[in-house]
Amino acid sequence: MWPKPVTVTGRKTDGREIVTLSLNIHVPARPGQMVMVWLPRDNSGKRNDEVSDEVPMSLSGISKDGVTISVKGVGPTTRAMLKLRPGDMIGVSGPFGKGFYSSGEKPLIIGGGIGLAPLMPLMRQFLARSWPYLIAGGATTEDIPFLTQLRSIMGARFATEDGSLGTKGTVIDALHKFDLGTVDSLYACGPMPMLEAVWREVHDTEINVQMSLEAHVRCGRGVCGSCAIGAYRVCHDGPVFDRRMLDEIGFGRDFSKEGIRSEGEGRTAEARAR
Ligand SMILES: Cc1cc2nc3c(=O)[nH]c(=O)nc-3n(C[C@H](O)[C@H](O)[C@H](O)COP(=O)(O)OP(=O)(O)OC[C@H]3O[C@@H](n4cnc5c(N)ncnc54)[C@H](O)[C@@H]3O)c2cc1C
Ligand code: FES
Repeated sequence: MWPKPVTVTGRKTDGREIVTLSLNIHVPARPGQMVMVWLPRDNSGKRNDEVSDEVPMSLSGISKDGVTISVKGVGPTTRAMLKLRPGDMIGVSGPFGKGFYSSGEKPLIIGGGIGLAPLMPLMRQFLARSWPYLIAGGATTEDIPFLTQLRSIMGARFATEDGSLGTKGTVIDALHKFDLGTVDSLYACGPMPMLEAVWREVHDTEINVQMSLEAHVRCGRGVCGSCAIGAYRVCHDGPVFDRRMLDEIGFGRDFSKEGIRSEGEGRTAEARAR
């Protein structure tokens, strides 16, 4: 699937080094699926060689009129994306992977920093029928995107490491104040150590758990194996892992001792079967 040319139609600052871009493309995606974004060379034909050909991005908004992606500047490609303005062209392919399946009547959504992006369309689905519980965290208030929308959600709890909003500490500190007996499903995305800590908290419960994991996505099309975690390719079988998959990869245990690969060194399940 080649990237389709897409025009940036809107740009909004959504936190510290976080920008939400509106794109004029209809992507038939479910919450949690990703697209691959390609940045063209500038008008002079130049491009910073460190900029990747394509990077994986979640959809932070999905509608029939278009989608939004929300970018956190962490390296050359994402920082170049922060400079995009309405009228600029980029390439988008996808959707790829499998997204969240919204099930349960009493959901808890946990997001850390830019990890809140793929949770936003899911949250909107839940808000159409009930009030989901939410725990959102970041190093400081400015690292929590979509704050205006999140604050309007009844039952939203926040955690910041500097104590500037909500509980002082991490989302796990906020989770410790939460009665897990009140929820039947949990959806999470954020840095891997945060997700591992959340998984350890809920592993021995009956809660239906789905987590969007991160790995080094290169081709995005299930071919290169660079994103393999255990038998799964994050770009094809994930990025959302359910309870069974998390158990199978031994998520949250000591990966180094259990021989579970993470970034970039994996082979796909098909490759191993050959
Ligand atoms: C399924 C998925 C969904 C994502 N959704 C978003 C999103 O909605 N918004 C957002 O801002 N970021 C998202 N990311 C992360 C984003 O793709 C990386 O931050 C980006 O590729 C970094 O590229 P860079 O050139 O700016 O930085 P680099 O210099 O390449 O890397 C900076 C950091 O990002 C990590 N990284 C680099 N390349 C990748 C990659 N291809 N996949 C994952 N991590 C990488 C590196 O380990 C390093 O820690 C997502 C990643 C995945 C796997
Ligand atoms: S990035 Fe190539 S298989 Fe997933």
